[in-house]
Amino acid sequence: MAYAAIAYSTVFLVNKNKGMALPMGQESCKLSVCGSGNVSSSCRGKYSMQAVKVDDRVAPEKEKIRPGRFGPYGGNYVPETLISCLSKLEAEFNLVLTDDQFQAELATALRDYVGRETPLYFAEQLTSYYRDENGEGPEIFLKREDLNHGGAHKMNNAIAQAMIAKRLGRQQVKAATGAGQHGVATAAACAKLSLDCTIFMGSSDIEKQSHNVLLMKLFGAQVVPVGGGFKDASSQAIREWVGDLENSYYLTGTVVGPHPCPSMVREFQSVIGKEIRKQAMERWGRKPDVLVACIGSGSNALGMFHEFIGDEDVRLIGVEAAGFGLDSGKHAATLVRGEVGVYHGSMSYLLQNSDGQILKPHSIGIGLEYPGVGPELSFLKDTGRAEFHTATDQEALNAYHRLCRLEGIIPAMEAAHAVVYLEKLCPSLPNGTKVVVNCSGRGDKDASLFFNHMPAAS
Ligand SMILES: Cc1ncc(COP(=O)(O)O)c(C=O)c1O
Repeated sequence: MAYAAIAYSTVFLVNKNKGMALPMGQESCKLSVCGSGNVSSSCRGKYSMQAVKVDDRVAPEKEKIRPGRFGPYGGNYVPETLISCLSKLEAEFNLVLTDDQFQAELATALRDYVGRETPLYFAEQLTSYYRDENGEGPEIFLKREDLNHGGAHKMNNAIAQAMIAKRLGRQQVKAATGAGQHGVATAAACAKLSLDCTIFMGSSDIEKQSHNVLLMKLFGAQVVPVGGGFKDASSQAIREWVGDLENSYYLTGTVVGPHPCPSMVREFQSVIGKEIRKQAMERWGRKPDVLVACIGSGSNALGMFHEFIGDEDVRLIGVEAAGFGLDSGKHAATLVRGEVGVYHGSMSYLLQNSDGQILKPHSIGIGLEYPGVGPELSFLKDTGRAEFHTATDQEALNAYHRLCRLEGIIPAMEAAHAVVYLEKLCPSLPNGTKVVVNCSGRGDKDASLFFNHMPAAS
């Protein structure tokens, strides 16, 4: 069934205790979606959820097309006190989508500040590496998001949201970062727009990504260490934002959180896919055949995929972090191994235990270490529109090295996970298949990490 047709017509969930929303960042709610499309709830505690089929409800047409819902996923599982703030944000987001002045300013910033459009680079050596004994194989292209100002796709969204914060008169911007790329992008955008910026970051991530911490500080941001990792930093940033809704703006770096956050970030990242379509048409006169992206929470993947969701002849492949292996319990493969629940304000697949408690994710790509994933990607999984695979830490290290040696390009360790999947993909593809891999960021930040793990490569 076509994605669009089923997008809003499967099932959705209502909170039994109206008004008693799940506290963001504290508790998850475990739900399982049955093959039939029904949802069985095994939610513990007072926040039980009830499945309601759209067909069972007498609902006006417009309620069926609910913004912020992707099948059963997404939504606003937040306390009442946040609803008015999120509604204002949603209204502003809807406004800027059609505001010519905002769009013109954003286009200028993307061109002159971020450095778009980014190249669609033909990876000739990588292509040769995967040719078979007859010299046949797919052609591999890299979408060079690593060439953006700040070194990653994160800037596409950070600059646009910082412009929204400015319009809303929110001087205090708060954000959480894992690998530091979103922190760098947000800090730079805030410097450009004269906004005050506070970045929350896990203490061990601060140590591992110390170079990015220096950059954030150079841009004038305050970097606040938080015990734990990216998920804990996100919870802290949200708490700080909730404590000062009048003056502060929570600048989310990826396609998670309550509506409108997932839609907004996806919208600002969708420039990636739009450029790929245009560049593919110019280069070879048709769409690409396969798109591959790594998935932490999903912003670079959705930014790449969204433009092509309606083109069912384009394969969409997301690669999650298998860490030490899927059975090790130390991974971040949320879509491949997770179960449905509610976390940080929306419903999605999550890494959680049988009590619905969030599990600590692990990946050598720190930016992939998040226990949730974007609700839209959860829906793409259920509908089968996208495929999801995994890559281990060791495979990512090998792919990182391979790209450095073959192309002279250093991918972010996160992006290296997408490169890994070429190993399995390429031998299965017909000659001349056009494959585009999203090189979501640059990997200078990971060079010492690489040599710590692979000393023999030095
Ligand atoms: C370069 C890079 N790629 C990918 C990711 C993963 O995030 P997402 O899945 O939102 O693209 C990160 C996160 O920090 C990143 O820095």
